[in-house]
Amino acid sequence: MLLNASGCLDALTAPDVARGLDAFVTKTVTPLPREGNTPVRIAETDVGMLNSIGLANPGIDRFVTRNLPPLEKLGVPVWVSVGGFETDDYADICSRLDDHAVVSAIELNVSCPNVDAPVESATEIVATARLATRKPLWAKLSPAVPDIGEVARAAQAAGADGLSLVNTMRGLKLDAWTLRPALGPGYGGLSGPALKPIALAAVASCYRATQMPIVGMGGIQTGMDALGFIAAGALHVALGTVLFADPGAPARIRAELHAAAADRGWSAYEDAYAIAHEESLSVGTTLDGRSSV
Ligand SMILES: Cc1cc2nc3c(=O)[nH]c(=O)nc-3n(C[C@H](O)[C@H](O)[C@H](O)COP(=O)(O)O)c2cc1C
Repeated sequence: MLLNASGCLDALTAPDVARGLDAFVTKTVTPLPREGNTPVRIAETDVGMLNSIGLANPGIDRFVTRNLPPLEKLGVPVWVSVGGFETDDYADICSRLDDHAVVSAIELNVSCPNVDAPVESATEIVATARLATRKPLWAKLSPAVPDIGEVARAAQAAGADGLSLVNTMRGLKLDAWTLRPALGPGYGGLSGPALKPIALAAVASCYRATQMPIVGMGGIQTGMDALGFIAAGALHVALGTVLFADPGAPARIRAELHAAAADRGWSAYEDAYAIAHEESLSVGTTLDGRSSV
């Protein structure tokens, strides 16, 4: 499937872009409304984009009453990204979403809290959320950890159904004249092309560590980039920063992906992983459950 990355598309203001996806992922929702950080919140760099949005969102109450009904009319499955500051925040939001049929999955944004203890933090959040909902749970991980495969295994053991890889990495841009940070809060999350090799490594290590379904993202700009993520072990791919520059990216990348697979004489994208890992073919390993993008 082709998805958007959380926070990179507003389906209510750009419904046609969202309809070009196989599922729409919301911006992270927290228990209470959040104004977000002080401007400036977005800056371009030579290799990608920095953002410090600060999880601005209407909070779960208004999200359920105001945002979910029009999202239901979109006709595209909705994944809700859930965030919080305490473990219980995640569980509360998950139970609030459990009865809404339009929500086809929940992405747990476990990338922010307790960065000093990522394994424990992922375990607690996923395990508590698991008790609060029957929806499929995707754990979205930060690449800024010593061993992402270990965090992935912890999320799997705690009951996650899949992994979303990766979130942004901390970066800084200085104004060329004042030498002060270009973003209001100072640091921001780096996304776009600079993140791609890091994200590919994360997908490859987490797939090897868990064999779980993975949504791969980080700097995807072309169909070839998407194919690379599938070859590394992703079942689905998500588009983030590219959507700000090119709202037509979903259709373009889908076409490029078809062309790249056809050029290689492959009948389907799922072949990418097997072909990139020939030894798995030689021992007859099947890739059951892997579907096309
Ligand atoms: C402006 C902006 C806002 C974002 N907001 C969120 C968010 O609310 N929750 C989340 O999990 N990730 C958020 N992200 C991270 C993206 O979902 C994605 O993980 C990251 O940008 C890497 O993909 P990309 O390089 O294709 O953009 C945001 C990214 C950007 C650029």
